[in-house]
Amino acid sequence: MRRTLIAGNWKMNGSFAANRSLLTEIVAGLPASSSADVLVCAPAPYLAQCADVLAASPVAWGAQDLSVHAQGAYTGEVSAAMLLDCGCRYVIVGHSERRAYHAESDQLVAQKALRAVEAGLKPVVCVGETLEQREGGQTNQVVGAQLDAVLALLTVEQLRNIVVAYEPVWAIGTGKTATPQMAQDVHAFLRQQIAAKDQELGVSVQILYGGSMKPDNAAELLSMADIDGGLIGGAALKSADFLAIVGAV
Ligand code: G3H
Repeated sequence: MRRTLIAGNWKMNGSFAANRSLLTEIVAGLPASSSADVLVCAPAPYLAQCADVLAASPVAWGAQDLSVHAQGAYTGEVSAAMLLDCGCRYVIVGHSERRAYHAESDQLVAQKALRAVEAGLKPVVCVGETLEQREGGQTNQVVGAQLDAVLALLTVEQLRNIVVAYEPVWAIGTGKTATPQMAQDVHAFLRQQIAAKDQELGVSVQILYGGSMKPDNAAELLSMADIDGGLIGGAALKSADFLAIVGAV
């Protein structure tokens, strides 16, 4: 039985004051009986604040990226060890915004996933196709290649510590959500691909959906057989919306 993970990706938003309110409201409003695991992925400068505010709560915190390097002369980079030092358990890798704006290749994303796992962090590995690729019938080919790079580099043992997130690029921040069936079809495809590497892993790996998940569509998306949670952008910035999504599990 896979657990459900509801993860907020704050992207480049927040301030000490706004974060404190948001985090405090999330902790106070968590449904007592929820079976979901809850995670917030904050900008790096606020991870220590997450540690401070969330330490005694069931909410985990994580980062939105990490360096592929372990340490050294890499100005501006943040290492896996630093994220661990801030109490992170998770780190997003390969978000489409990093792939698009920072030219992150499938290989680099796989190396970052490896770096994270080796350090003891759980990478949330994002895959997803653009609208052009979907309309060209290339969805499975694109997400398959993105996932394949990770499956090829990590051992089965290491892959037991990854989370996958399917985020169709055309659905991110646009208000256009994949229909539950569209998302389910890709999730099933990804799971099959993982199962081809290791049957048991295919059953156990968590696959999240991301792309305009909101309180009003979350329950239906989360009810699909192969959708094990959400990676939520815009709606993670409002405690009421985020909590409503947690409550939809
Ligand atoms: O990482 C989160 C995704 O990019 C989804 O963002 O919920 O604002 O569409 P969104």
